[in-house]
Amino acid sequence: MSTNRLDRAYSIADLRKQARRRLPRAIFEFIDGGAGGETTLAENCSDFGRWRLVPRVGVDVGRRDLSAMIVGVPAALPLLLAPTGLAGLYSPQGEAKAARAAAAAGIPFCLSTNSVASLEEVAAQAPGGDKWFQLYMLKDRPLMWALLDRARGAGYRVLCLTLDLAVQGRRERDMRNAFTVPLRPRLRTVLEVAARPAWLAGFLRAPVRFGNFEQHAGVSGFMNIAQHVASLFDPTADWTAIREVVERWGGPFVVKGVLSPDDALRAVELGARAVIVSNHGGRQLDQSVSAVAALPAVVAAVGSRAQIILDGGVRRGVDLIKARALGADACMIGRPFLWGLSAGGEDGVARALAIFRDELDNGLALVGAPIYAELDETNLACR
Ligand SMILES: Cc1cc2nc3c(=O)[nH]c(=O)nc-3n(C[C@H](O)[C@H](O)[C@H](O)COP(=O)(O)O)c2cc1C
Repeated sequence: MSTNRLDRAYSIADLRKQARRRLPRAIFEFIDGGAGGETTLAENCSDFGRWRLVPRVGVDVGRRDLSAMIVGVPAALPLLLAPTGLAGLYSPQGEAKAARAAAAAGIPFCLSTNSVASLEEVAAQAPGGDKWFQLYMLKDRPLMWALLDRARGAGYRVLCLTLDLAVQGRRERDMRNAFTVPLRPRLRTVLEVAARPAWLAGFLRAPVRFGNFEQHAGVSGFMNIAQHVASLFDPTADWTAIREVVERWGGPFVVKGVLSPDDALRAVELGARAVIVSNHGGRQLDQSVSAVAALPAVVAAVGSRAQIILDGGVRRGVDLIKARALGADACMIGRPFLWGLSAGGEDGVARALAIFRDELDNGLALVGAPIYAELDETNLACR
């Protein structure tokens, strides 16, 4: 039955509407919301409108090539599923469902430090595909080293170091909703949850916790995310600490949460294989520059020394085209696949990816540039 509903989602915005109808309000808003006045959240999307496409005609577009190389591995689409905390709260075993949908679509999946399922559970339930592990800098160094060993042992190929969460951004919607893990049974929350029986049925079957920290004494009881972050994450971590982590890891790594060309260069000097231009989907520092507006300067600074991944506000195939024309090698999506996951589990994530695939294929044909990797700034006009 969910399949029929998903078939009627023709855009990512349609999937968002379905997610809104399925999730309790506090959970929908945890996904949807951003920091402060949510200016950056909005501009991540609207700043794609600074550029328009300049189609070429008289080009053979009979066959289109949507593929991309992403940190040394070919991907069928220029897309990655972004690390997103608590995916198992939106759909039972949400992390594994998303990882399986990514593998089926031939793209990488990045697991969050703050997943519901542990990294071992996700690897066991979604054995195929290119899996990355996202790490936050933790105060407890032995705990962090153990996570690195576990990720390596479970087959995660790339380490994604998220650097833009020294402290948690002020997310007013979560404060108003008193959003905690596990959900604290306030009267309003109980009423909202009771109004979403399909979600509740799944929730009752699947316990929600921070699976990677299960054995850690500091993580227990009702915690809002800000308390979780304050208890575990290290706001003192600087480039020396970052160097120690990547040396311990020893494998390919990328850094996420960079907006400044100088920081991008620091990361490249450390050996980062890719720089993820991102403001955490507008969830951290409101009024920071949008990801797409920050992209050209980072591309100019990094050149061909590392790959560039754009993260934030990507909602349509034409956004992928603009990102490539501005110099990104691929894009990450967060909310778009979470809306799909919330609307219809693994099929919903597959639907989100199919929408991007169709829109991108159509866009490449109509822009007259059949090979995604060969798009460049001649396909763009500034507004
Ligand atoms: C519900 C949610 C949870 C997130 N959790 C994490 C996380 O645990 N680690 C991380 O690096 N980024 C996290 N992010 C940020 C995403 O990785 C990504 O940067 C952001 O969603 C991109 O913007 P978009 O949602 O507009 O695609 C989260 C985002 C959302 C929406």
